[in-house]
Amino acid sequence: MSDTPLAKIIRQKIKDEGPMPLSEYMGLCLGHSKHGYYMTRDPFGQAGDFITAPEISQMFGEMVGAWLMDTWQKMGSPSDFILLEMGAGRGTLMSDILRVAKVLPAFLEAVHVHIVEMSPILQKAQEYSLQVHDLKNAPQWSSCIESVDFNFPVLVIGNEFLDALPVDQLVFTDAGWARKFVKIDENDTFRLYEECEYLGRSQLEKALPQTLFKPNLGDVFEVSLEQRKISDDLIKIILKQGGSILWIDYGFKSAGAYQGGDTLQAVKKHQFSDIFAAPGENDLTYHINFSDLADYALSKNVVVHGPVSQSDYLTSLGIEHRAEILKRHATKGVSCSIDAELNRLIGKDEMGDLFKVIAFTSDPNIDLAGF
Ligand SMILES: C[S@@+](CC[C@H](N)C(=O)[O-])C[C@H]1O[C@@H](n2cnc3c(N)ncnc32)[C@H](O)[C@@H]1O
Repeated sequence: MSDTPLAKIIRQKIKDEGPMPLSEYMGLCLGHSKHGYYMTRDPFGQAGDFITAPEISQMFGEMVGAWLMDTWQKMGSPSDFILLEMGAGRGTLMSDILRVAKVLPAFLEAVHVHIVEMSPILQKAQEYSLQVHDLKNAPQWSSCIESVDFNFPVLVIGNEFLDALPVDQLVFTDAGWARKFVKIDENDTFRLYEECEYLGRSQLEKALPQTLFKPNLGDVFEVSLEQRKISDDLIKIILKQGGSILWIDYGFKSAGAYQGGDTLQAVKKHQFSDIFAAPGENDLTYHINFSDLADYALSKNVVVHGPVSQSDYLTSLGIEHRAEILKRHATKGVSCSIDAELNRLIGKDEMGDLFKVIAFTSDPNIDLAGF
């Protein structure tokens, strides 16, 4: 374990206040105002810690852009609408969307781009990426959705955003569901601990989905109350203003209750690491439970589309055709790179199956493309 500045802060907090819920630990590791992982760096690309789909190829953003234009038209082409991206990284996805949207000038006339981004460093990168786009309505940024003025219909997108929201782990013990906490052992080392607070009183118990039945001892269920809150807020907004939400992330559809189990992982330089290895220096992330996300949205009376695999979504939007067009005037080397990027996005052993896509709409009559 490396003794990072954030490790010292967390250790002191645990000494002062007692064991820390896992979600609080993850929230500090990623979002601590001074030492949080996303607050101090641009982690993307080969030289960074991981690579996301928009950074692999422009084709990803082009397909999402085509989906947005189609959905906007199916909503009746409102003359003003908000295109909200949650957690936009370097701004590459939004930039590719706005570039491809040049084919539909009315869309660009109507769009009010808004990005919710907690990292000041990444917000700067996003401003830089978007400055090439001469939009009628200047893009806006907020650090949370509470400060966005939702006065028009809304299209929300988020790629690998949900997996960055702090998660809790609940474990089924012989005394019922327990919540995992971080404590310090006699060697001053961080340890996970699941004994100290059973869930009878906790709101986390309410977060356990109805589909959970007959748990076995040791079964782990991951739940993110922050994810629930953001889903809830955005669903209320689309029900009020009209619109859709598109989430793309890695995760699973669970046929049984506990298919996911413990999926929390730390990532550094494209390798997995221990979640306590270097607090604030490693990315922490987990697999999204898409069945739970869908069930929750259904209970809030929106229409749920999917989840489908990223491969099926991008293929049905025409990514293979787009790759062929890009290759027409490409050199042999560039052509090979396009094939490799395409394979990375839709290959079954690559992101194609692991990543899922789900959408929620306020209007039951909209037949969304891609699902
Ligand atoms: C894994 S990155 C994905 C970036 C981008 N969507 C992409 O695909 O390249 C997660 C992004 O969400 C942002 N983020 C994480 N938690 C957030 C929160 N609670 N509020 C706003 N942004 C957040 C991070 O700063 C980062 O930009």
